[in-house]
Amino acid sequence: MEKLEQLYEGKAKKVFKTDEPELYIVDYKDDATALNGLKKGTIHNKGIINNRVTNHLMKLLEADGVPTHFVEELSDRETLVKKVTIIPLEVIVRNIAAGSLSKRLGLPEGAKLQSTVLEFCYKDDALGDPMVNEYHIAALGVATKEELGKIAEYSFHVNRFLTDYLKDVGIELIDFKLEFGKTTDGTIVLADEISPDTCRFWDSKTHEKLDKDRFRRDMGGEEDAYKEIMKRLLGE
Ligand code: C5P
Repeated sequence: MEKLEQLYEGKAKKVFKTDEPELYIVDYKDDATALNGLKKGTIHNKGIINNRVTNHLMKLLEADGVPTHFVEELSDRETLVKKVTIIPLEVIVRNIAAGSLSKRLGLPEGAKLQSTVLEFCYKDDALGDPMVNEYHIAALGVATKEELGKIAEYSFHVNRFLTDYLKDVGIELIDFKLEFGKTTDGTIVLADEISPDTCRFWDSKTHEKLDKDRFRRDMGGEEDAYKEIMKRLLGE
């Protein structure tokens, strides 16, 4: 497999073409951003941890029936994935109130929600990723009703699976963000990453934050938190 030219550089990852037209290589960086790019920094070895944690979870999800873009881990920071067109939606699933939901609805962080919340944000940096509903999504032509139905079904499936899986290693899954893509044949697959950058993970007993909120909120200890997640999920 030959790594060819870079197609795209995002905030946390780069994507490269390969000599196989239907396969891309994702390369994870240590760069960290928050507040829609206003806060910038690095978290030592974050790229390695996010690559390995994402692949570990994607493999488990694929085996449990959620189609993903994952093909093969190539190195500590590089993964071979299916070529997809990313659907420009951030799909957020919430079990416990935190972050922007707490602010918007005046709920204390840590409050149990009476049912799971599913939110969609339109991926557009210039607009600040505004929240949209199914009518906006149809009006913008971002996804069809059927595609959005699949996305919602997979997102709830991921939530059920990860909540149970993480409970066994002492982690409470507060909320997380997913992205989906469409392969050349039109199949919807889970894409992007599932990592401490994109999930809120709290220690089940102490409620200590083991995720990117430590960076976003200048709490410190983000490197140790990411390492702790890697240790609990991969035993190293
Ligand atoms: O900030 P907010 O409370 O809306 O975040 C909800 C969840 O989505 C959090 O787990 C956060 O890590 C994730 N998220 C993300 N990328 C964004 C916005 C939110 O991974 N651009």
